[in-house]
Amino acid sequence: MRSRWFGPTLAVDTPAKLNLQLSVLGRRPDGFHELETIMVSIGLYDTLTFAPGPSGVSFTCNGAAGPLPADESNLVLRAARRLLRPDQRQPGVQIHLTKRIPMQAGMGGGSSDAAATLVALNDYWHCGLSQAELHAHAAALGSDVNFFVDSSPLALCRGRGEQIESRSLSGPLWFVVAKPPVGLSTAVVFRQLDLATCGRADSHSLLQACQRGNLGAIAARLTNDLETPSRQLSSEIGDLLERLAAVRLAGPRMTGSGSACFGLARNREQADRAARCLRRQGVHEVYVVQTAV
Ligand code: C5P
Repeated sequence: MRSRWFGPTLAVDTPAKLNLQLSVLGRRPDGFHELETIMVSIGLYDTLTFAPGPSGVSFTCNGAAGPLPADESNLVLRAARRLLRPDQRQPGVQIHLTKRIPMQAGMGGGSSDAAATLVALNDYWHCGLSQAELHAHAAALGSDVNFFVDSSPLALCRGRGEQIESRSLSGPLWFVVAKPPVGLSTAVVFRQLDLATCGRADSHSLLQACQRGNLGAIAARLTNDLETPSRQLSSEIGDLLERLAAVRLAGPRMTGSGSACFGLARNREQADRAARCLRRQGVHEVYVVQTAV
């Protein structure tokens, strides 16, 4: 994430993610699933601003089409309330979120917003929380929130997804990401999952390929155990994956629990060409992105 101050206002751009691999290893007694997943941050950002406001926390949110609901269900408000002291002696803050990361897409937008809120308010309110304390709040908010706390371009994530090991990337990777009109709920996708179809992917080889910048080896190792249940829930996923392959993007995969899908490009020019073809075909939302933090 990238932060900057404008006088008394703190602005934070917080990125989306893609899952390069996602293996579901089993169901846990707490109802969650044990995962091993490799995530990259990509250069598609939501922006949060933190400005002086009336006492406590106030929150507004808008997307491209206008205002969005900004109620208690929003992770930004829940993250902010976690850092608010019971005596509310911190100065009031007005938080505004500009959404660009597609929702119900498997791109971690809500989790990224929550992580940015924790990191930014720790600074804005001088809470003095350690990285470990921020991670404890992140894990309580959702499975993907921890990944964004570290601002890591690439990480191997385990447990519910909240145990993060940062890894190195030889250089930027280019992707085309496309989202069909339908969105998918993570909880519904996990309910549809048949564990018999899942297995541990070779994360070591993929991480090595990322470290060496070997695009062919990366593309050959992209996997996602949630793709099968998501394809069963929406025929648009399979259709989109075929379109990504037809415009010569490598290793087309769905990210997270969907519904966005992505393919790997050799460089920006190839990514732009593929994106133009997809837009001409009427694909709903298409983004050319690079790995970024
Ligand atoms: O943690 P998060 O809010 O992202 O999870 C949303 C839902 O996805 C959970 O309530 C759970 O049903 C499912 N989930 C899971 N195993 C995980 C992560 C999420 O079953 N590791």
